[in-house]
Amino acid sequence: MSFDDIFDESYDRVLLAPSDGIEFFEAFYRRFLRSSSEVRILFRNTDMAAQRSMLKKSFFSLVAFYASGTIDDVLRRIAYLHSAEHLNIKPHLYDLWLECLIDTVNAYDPEFCDEVELAWRLVLSPGITYMKFRYDHY
Ligand code: HEM
Repeated sequence: MSFDDIFDESYDRVLLAPSDGIEFFEAFYRRFLRSSSEVRILFRNTDMAAQRSMLKKSFFSLVAFYASGTIDDVLRRIAYLHSAEHLNIKPHLYDLWLECLIDTVNAYDPEFCDEVELAWRLVLSPGITYMKFRYDHY
């Protein structure tokens, strides 16, 4: 099976059933907030329920970038919003973001294994590289 298929199947297991991904993103943000005080400070005034639903939507653009090799308007806007000019999200925080996401997949995908982990890392890499690059290139 290709890494694309391995990713798609794992994505369906964690994000579709049974709560349409809400539980998954809730668990992700719990981990992410716990992982660093820098993250907690950045989200100190954020409505985390709204944040969860926005991440869920924008997640699609990250995955689409891997599949199509082109950046859609949603991803372009998010990258600009996170750049040094606006939210000032330092590039190293994306590595933490990815580690917390992988830990959450581990907790929610009963078929989690090395291949599944690698598939998630491969699929999300272009989007994360793009977000980091846009930190100070706009
Ligand atoms: C590829 C990874 C990421 C994606 C797809 C993403 C997505 C988003 C989206 C869609 C929003 C809402 C934008 C809006 O208001 O329209 C947002 C806001 C935000 N993100 Fe991210 N994000 C990512 C990584 C990060 C990281 C690593 C941090 C670091 C802590 C971060 C911190 C924030 C903050 C502080 C806000 C503003 C929250 C508020 O409005 O109070 N994000 N993000």
